[in-house]
Amino acid sequence: MNEKLTTSQGQPWADNNHSQTAGTRGPILMQDYQLLEKLAHFNRERIPERVVHAKGAGAKGTFKLTRDMSQYTKADVFNGEGKETPVLIRFSQVAGELGYPDTLRDVRGFALRFYTQEGNYDVVGNNTPVFFVNDPLKFPDFIHSQKRDPATHLRTQEMQWDFWSHSPESVHQVTYLMGDRGNPASYRTMNGYGSHTFKWVNASGEQFWVKYHFVAAQGVQNMTNEQAAKTASEDTDFLLHDLYDAIEQGNYPSWKVCVQILPYEEGLNYKYDIFDVTKTVSKKDYPRIEIGEFTLNENPVNYFDEVEEAAFSPANFVPGIEPSPDKLLQGRLFGYKDAERYRLGINYENLPINKPVNAVHNYERDGFMSQGQDGSVNYEPNSHGGPVEVPEARMHGDAVTGQTEYSKPYEVDHFSQAGDLYRLMTPDAKDRLIETIKGTLGTVESKEIRVLETKQFYQADHEYGERVAQALGLPMEKIR
Ligand code: HEM
Repeated sequence: MNEKLTTSQGQPWADNNHSQTAGTRGPILMQDYQLLEKLAHFNRERIPERVVHAKGAGAKGTFKLTRDMSQYTKADVFNGEGKETPVLIRFSQVAGELGYPDTLRDVRGFALRFYTQEGNYDVVGNNTPVFFVNDPLKFPDFIHSQKRDPATHLRTQEMQWDFWSHSPESVHQVTYLMGDRGNPASYRTMNGYGSHTFKWVNASGEQFWVKYHFVAAQGVQNMTNEQAAKTASEDTDFLLHDLYDAIEQGNYPSWKVCVQILPYEEGLNYKYDIFDVTKTVSKKDYPRIEIGEFTLNENPVNYFDEVEEAAFSPANFVPGIEPSPDKLLQGRLFGYKDAERYRLGINYENLPINKPVNAVHNYERDGFMSQGQDGSVNYEPNSHGGPVEVPEARMHGDAVTGQTEYSKPYEVDHFSQAGDLYRLMTPDAKDRLIETIKGTLGTVESKEIRVLETKQFYQADHEYGERVAQALGLPMEKIR
C-alpha cells in the first residue's frame, strides 16, 4: 500500500495535480498554500556547486587494515591489524561545471573519508601525485585559467596554456595531464594520491613523513582522445554511470592503500623538497608499503544528501596524523571548510553524511539550521562538568627559523622530474602525449605562449621539447 501524501508539515495533501482556482476558469487562490510552498521549495533546490570539482560520483565502503602501523602512527584507524573502518569516497572532475561531460581530459579528484573512532579523517587527493602550483596564492588564478573566459563565457585553451607557460612549476603535472593518465577509462581504473607529504606521529612522539598511494586493484586503464570524444557525445555521465552500475551489479571496486614513509630528519634532507607538491618522492628511495585495502560496495541512496552535501577537508585530521609545512596544503587547511560554510551553511558538519561516528562535544552553538543541540553548558571554563581538553591530541611542532617575508616557496628545479616522467613513457605513450599537446597547445593563437611552454618541455627533456616544437611547427632555435 502506498504511503499517504502529506505536506512537509505532515498534513494530508488532498490534490497534487489541480491548483485551487476561483471557479473553473478563474485565477489561482492565495489560500492554495501547498501550491505556493511547492513552487517556493522548487526555487531553492539548487545550492552553489563546488567552486572546483563540481561534478562527481560518490560511494561508500569499508577500509580494512592489513598491517598494523602503530610503529609509525598512533592513529586508531591504522592501529590493529584487521581493523575495519567505514569509508566514503567522492571522485570528481576538476574544471567543468555540474553538467559537464565526464570524459574530457582533466585531473580527477579522489577524496576519501575514513569514519574513524577518533573523528573523521579525510585524504582529499587527486589521481596524480603532484599538482600544478605550490603556493596557495596562485590557486585562484590557476583555476580561473581553467574555467570560463570572463568576456565570452567560453573555456579556452589560450587561458590555461597562458597560465601554465608562465608557471614553470606546472610542467610536471601538465605532462601527467597531457599523458595517458589524463583521461582514465573509469574512476575504478585510476590510482589516487594524497599528493602532499603529511606527518605521522607514534605513541612515543616519534615523527615520520608520509605519502599516500591508493592503487586500483582493477589496474590502471585509460581512454584515447578518440574514445573520450565519442563517449562525451554519447553519455555525458559516463564515469558516474560506470561506478554506479559496477556497484549495483556487485562488481565492487577496491584500492590497495600504500604509504611511503620517510624518517623525519632524512625527509628534511631529501634530494627534493618533500613539502613541494610539484615533486614526487621516488619509490626506489622509499618503496610503497601496503597497509590495507578499501572496497566500495554501497551506492548512495540519495545523491544530494550523501554526495553533494559531503564536505571533505584536508584539515580533517585525527591524532597521530598532522599537516606538514607544505605551503599549498597550509592554504587548503583554510579553503575547504570556508567553502563549505558558504556552500552548505554554518552547520554543515551536522549533516548526517558529515557527522563522525563518535559523539561530538564542544562549546559551539546555534547558527542557521542548527539541530540536535541540548541545553548543556555552552562556555568554558565552567563548573558544570562540561567537556574537557584532550592533551594527548596536541600537534607536534617543527623547528622554524628565519624572517617573515614573501619567500619563493621552493627550489627552482621545475624540470628534472617532468623529464623523468617523459623518459619513463613507452614510445607509444610518448607519441600520444605529443599528439595531445599538438591538439591543445597547437590551437593556441599566441606564438609567445606556444614557444614559452615548449621551452619548458625542452628544459624537462630535449627530445620532448624538440618533438613538441616539430609538431607545432616552431623553429628549434626559439626553444633551445
Ligand atoms: C575541492 C580549494 C588544491 C583536490 C575543492 C574545493 C575548494 C578547493 C574550495 C571545494 C570544496 C567544497 O566545496 O566542498 C583548493 C585550494 C587549493 C586546492 C585553495 C590550493 C591552495 C587541491 C589539491 C588537490 C585538491 C592540491 C589534490 C591533491 C580537491 C578535491 C576536491 C577539491 C578532490 C573535491 C572534494 C570533494 O569531492 O568534495 N578544492 N584546492 N585540491 N579539491 Fe581542492
